[in-house]
Amino acid sequence: MKIKTCVTLLCAAFVAAGISATASAAKIGVSMPTQSLQRWNQDGANMKAQLEKAGYEVELLYAGDNDIPTQVNQIENMISGGDDVLVIAAIDGSALTEVLKGAKEKKIPVISYDRLIMNTDAVSYYATFDNFKVGQIQGHFLEDALKLKDAATTPKNIEFFTGPTDDNNVNFFWGGALEVLQPYLDNGKLVCKSGQTTKEQAATLNWNNEEAQKRMENLISSCGYGPEGTKLDAVLCSNDSTANGVTNALLSEGYDASNFPIVTGQDCDRPSVKNIKKGYQAMSVFKDTRTLAAQVVKMVDEIIKGQPVEVNDTKTYNNGTGVIPSFLCTPVIGTKDNYKKLLIDSGYYKESEI
Ligand code: BGC
Repeated sequence: MKIKTCVTLLCAAFVAAGISATASAAKIGVSMPTQSLQRWNQDGANMKAQLEKAGYEVELLYAGDNDIPTQVNQIENMISGGDDVLVIAAIDGSALTEVLKGAKEKKIPVISYDRLIMNTDAVSYYATFDNFKVGQIQGHFLEDALKLKDAATTPKNIEFFTGPTDDNNVNFFWGGALEVLQPYLDNGKLVCKSGQTTKEQAATLNWNNEEAQKRMENLISSCGYGPEGTKLDAVLCSNDSTANGVTNALLSEGYDASNFPIVTGQDCDRPSVKNIKKGYQAMSVFKDTRTLAAQVVKMVDEIIKGQPVEVNDTKTYNNGTGVIPSFLCTPVIGTKDNYKKLLIDSGYYKESEI
């Protein structure tokens, strides 16, 4: 699948009846999935700050710790409470069909934030990062680090970890990474000793790091991996919370910076950046939540003012009712070599935080 991120298209404005024409009169509902992962706290805080700066009233709610009924309830209240635009990062992309019928009836525009909301025609726009590219960056990193292109390279052992299959992003992270890595599984350059090479087998409930840790511990004992045992060369982890669980399991097994398998990640969460500095996790993918928040605030503003809404992808993201006009921000690789420039110099973190 190819995603055209370079083309900027202008989509017809969504001018819904009942929308206030000025920022000061409008209330924006922001629904986030959980406060237990750093990234969503950051996303929520950035959205709130930037929307308020633009003059909007903001109702920011977190759905406990990934609690679907809580999220449904909160959205229902936002709709009945008269919010003018909804920005939603769904826990389960397919669980909001019923509740969003209310938004559609009241002509409240819905922006799907980071994760696509499936099976509802209530979604007007989608703003996210180029999720396929995230997977490709991870795949290419492993391809280079393991020298898979090199004819002289002997087979390397790898295991796979991704997120829950109810997060539509997982299809893209997985698809992008496997586009690069599948040929090497097919030609034997990569070997997955557990045989767990499908997205479903590699899935992690709620992206929970303890779940990932438990599964990695099981793989260590069933495949005999260890610094003194069967060599484990790499672990593809779709994000940092799974990478953290995997890293904990590997550290308990006695791996250290001198022999650590190559572990990938995504988000540049603080624990992962610390692990990158220590030589455990090898890389992460940086998705600057400030950029995504700024783009969504721009979308909200354009919707409220009845202006054309800027999108740059009108082909890739079909939510089951049709393609949702999307804006894809660009993810970039984060490693030991560039984290200072990427994360400190840009003001994302203070050195003391990581
Ligand atoms: C996001 C990732 C995040 C994961 C777990 C995904 O939908 O795109 O950035 O790591 O959810 O919260």
